[in-house]
Amino acid sequence: MFTKRYRIVALVLTLCVFFLINRQLQASSSSRSRLILDDPLGTEEEKPQQHPRPANNNNNNNNNHNKNNGEPFNWANVPQRYPISSTIPIPKTNPKSIPTIQHRFREESDEARRVRIARLEAVKSNFTHAWGGYKQHAWLKDEVAPLSGKAYSAFGGWAATLVDSLDTLWIMGLRDEFEEAVEAVNYIDFTHCSLKTINVFETTIRYLGGLLGAYDISGAKYPSLLNKATELGQMLYAAFDTPNRMPITRWDVKDAMVGEGQEEAGDTALVAELGSLTLEFTRLTQLTGDPKYFDAVQRVMDVFAEQQSKTKLPGLWPIAVNAKTLNFGAYGGFTIGGMVDSLYEYLPKQYLLLGGGSQQYRKMYQDALVAMKRNIFFRPMTKGGEDILLPGDVDSNGQTHVSLLETKPRAQHLSCFSGGMVGLAAKAFNTPTDMDTAAKLVEGCLWAYESSNMGFMPEIMHTVRCDDRDDCSWDEAEWLRQVDEAYSSTSAASSAIEKAKIHNLSPGVTKIDDPKYGLRPEAIESIFLLYRLTGNPALPHRAWAIFQNTIKYTITDIGHAELQDCTDTRMEKMDRMESFWLAETLKYFYLMFEEPGVVSLDEFVLNTEAHPLRWRGVVED
Ligand SMILES: *[C@@H]1O[C@H](CO)[C@@H](O)[C@H](O)[C@H]1NC(C)=O
Repeated sequence: MFTKRYRIVALVLTLCVFFLINRQLQASSSSRSRLILDDPLGTEEEKPQQHPRPANNNNNNNNNHNKNNGEPFNWANVPQRYPISSTIPIPKTNPKSIPTIQHRFREESDEARRVRIARLEAVKSNFTHAWGGYKQHAWLKDEVAPLSGKAYSAFGGWAATLVDSLDTLWIMGLRDEFEEAVEAVNYIDFTHCSLKTINVFETTIRYLGGLLGAYDISGAKYPSLLNKATELGQMLYAAFDTPNRMPITRWDVKDAMVGEGQEEAGDTALVAELGSLTLEFTRLTQLTGDPKYFDAVQRVMDVFAEQQSKTKLPGLWPIAVNAKTLNFGAYGGFTIGGMVDSLYEYLPKQYLLLGGGSQQYRKMYQDALVAMKRNIFFRPMTKGGEDILLPGDVDSNGQTHVSLLETKPRAQHLSCFSGGMVGLAAKAFNTPTDMDTAAKLVEGCLWAYESSNMGFMPEIMHTVRCDDRDDCSWDEAEWLRQVDEAYSSTSAASSAIEKAKIHNLSPGVTKIDDPKYGLRPEAIESIFLLYRLTGNPALPHRAWAIFQNTIKYTITDIGHAELQDCTDTRMEKMDRMESFWLAETLKYFYLMFEEPGVVSLDEFVLNTEAHPLRWRGVVED
């Protein structure tokens, strides 16, 4: 899963850490830190329910099966083994101190409106198609399998797709469906889990984020959503009950319910899972007035802040850290892609959610951005000579000067969130020159889509990196040399040109490490954000082309399916549709064609599962 060429110095350490990470990752996927699962699906082959309905008919005791002296189990009553002695208060917000985020869009022509509405309807009908498949085949289960119609429970069995889709239903104006789903939320039982261990991060971004996003976007008119979010928040808070108050990221809920199990945070924690819980916990404190949730995540972020200059690449945090000893400086692998991504994404967003009330997140982001510009972003060599950027990876041994480290041109689809992040931060922090960088990053992912043979950026690929960002003219021989090298052992083909053809490499791509298209949102997420930030009128048209192409290849009778190989038309679809397809990908496509006032970035921050959390009231102009 990682590039084969390690630096010799880092070899031993890297392998040890990878071994540990791999072991940790076997049982679950993660969202932004999502990886491919080995045995992902607690497959339940349930009989399809003809009439979608809440589970009350056959599950009378569902809410109360965990009796505790006759009372339903309540996480709020579980005593903390390592209680805090003081609470960090949530800072006072000052949202007026933050500049206007969105571009001021001019009024559109009748013709432009007609085109836009037609596209909006096409996205919506694809959403209702997939939502209908979920309702019919997997109601109240985590996922519907889009080919077989099976029901999967890979995320605890708490109706992941339903909770993840709530705010999309609202945004698309599907009010009856929304209310039916809100009603069904009452039947989710967080004291009963389909898995041995849950991923605290996934549970936070999908479920807690989903409930809070639905509550916020519907104008706080459905209090049951906040009650359910609080119930879940009480549970997740128990994962922070460790001696150093760092959360246990892969957490055995059943053990914890009886006060047993792991007591300390792990020695190999993925930074995305540790460091991107802030938005959801902060919003829960803001909405409930209970300070403990913000306190819990602020303690974690204080450690990240303190460790930021002590890593092997100061400014950035490595993929894995020791959450038990709080040593963040051991591992030397750096990326902003899988296993890391939302850690960075949440810094400017947390600044917004706190209404500019804390400068800590601004500083952390800006220190990280300096290192990203230097060591992560690179210019790929393209045939058309486009001046674009992609995020790569870098290893550091902590000794080599940071200006001499070599960026590996390994581009992940997951990293495509970065254009949106840099753009949003450029507005929030009033650093307009960074919008250039944001646009180049978005163009990098657009290039990956638009130049590929089937119109998709694969999960992971390599390109040719130009050492000089200002001098990057096309060098066909160099591209072919790198293709030849990348496939030296795996391909029987004789010439590099043949290798490129066999592996469906478009010019500039030297290797496709993972050819999957996972219905992922990151590219459209950043295109959407850049559009709302800059108003660039070409973006909706390019997004529409990507949408049509995506639907063409992924649609099934039940929903939409991941592609095993998005560079090969003969390859079959996979039987998986993760909840983020409805929560994120289709929501971003929809918002691309909605009026800019709908889910305005001046009122909402979107968590890493695209759930809108309110940070500012309606702006008076
Ligand atoms: C899905 O989107 C396509 C456009 O790409 C459109 O033609 C189609 O009608 C939409 N709806 C469904 C259910 O396919």
